[in-house]
Amino acid sequence: MTKCLVIGACGQLGTELTAGLRSKYGINNVIASDIHPPEGGVKDAPFEILDAMNFDALKSIVEMHQIDTIYHLAAILSAKGEQNPPLAWSLNMTSLLNVLNLAKENNSIKIFWPSSIAVFGPTTPKDNTPQDCIMDPNTVYGISKLAGERWCQYYHEKYGVDVRSVRYPGLIGSKTLPGGGTTDYAVDIFYKVLQGEQYECFLAEDCILPMMYMDDAVEATIHIMEADKPSIKVRTSYNLSAISFTPAELYQEIKKQIPEAKITYNPDYRQNIANSWPNSIDDSNARKDWGWKHTFDMKKLVEVMLSELEPKVASM
Ligand code: SER
Repeated sequence: MTKCLVIGACGQLGTELTAGLRSKYGINNVIASDIHPPEGGVKDAPFEILDAMNFDALKSIVEMHQIDTIYHLAAILSAKGEQNPPLAWSLNMTSLLNVLNLAKENNSIKIFWPSSIAVFGPTTPKDNTPQDCIMDPNTVYGISKLAGERWCQYYHEKYGVDVRSVRYPGLIGSKTLPGGGTTDYAVDIFYKVLQGEQYECFLAEDCILPMMYMDDAVEATIHIMEADKPSIKVRTSYNLSAISFTPAELYQEIKKQIPEAKITYNPDYRQNIANSWPNSIDDSNARKDWGWKHTFDMKKLVEVMLSELEPKVASM
């Protein structure tokens, strides 16, 4: 039985991945960790306070719990990263290198580390963006993810580290709010609409971006980590895709269920970031190599988000 450590377990993805791993491997086989305790306190499940920039602290938690698999999710995302580029670079790179160095010392530790569509840039092909193409990210987050992908491949080739990665699109889930990304509008809109308020979107109505419902993201993550080693042929990071839509298309789908929903558009600095990212992604390598497939289209995503958030927003 595997023993996992999730770093960044209180974040948007971390919360739902930790729950997914626990239902699969058992509560006590998944150690959640974050720099802050979870909102609402630590429940009856293993949790450690961990600053992933501190190698010794990381090592001692891994040894204490006899961890064999690390999901390293802690990062500063695209929009927030632009407000403090040195901090974003330092956190994103130091924490990744700490985890890679630990696995270099002990090759039996397997690592998952997420990359992102932010590795692409203004001269990347926009439609059906291939796995291998020009990558010229112009955010500190994107630069750190691209550098991180190269480090993952380097540690795999030079030191035999079994590190696996996917380039997530914008992730949409109901459990926890996203923390400072360019795709966050696609979560924020649900809260405003359910609160009966008009939503002011910080991206333009026709800004198309690749997106994914959280359950698909969790499934992809567990799936790539469980795949046989020889099937993992990409050791930088796999393109991963589900759906692409614009704010206007998402709004229209929401409006089918909540006819009084209202939206206005007031693009800010995040529009420039979005403009540099793909419209859609070719993820045929992931589908071919380890059998990835998504299950949520936009209609299903909207239905589930509204039904899960309705009671939560009512009790806020
Ligand atoms: N959702 C992320 C962001 O917007 C992309 O990886 O920063």
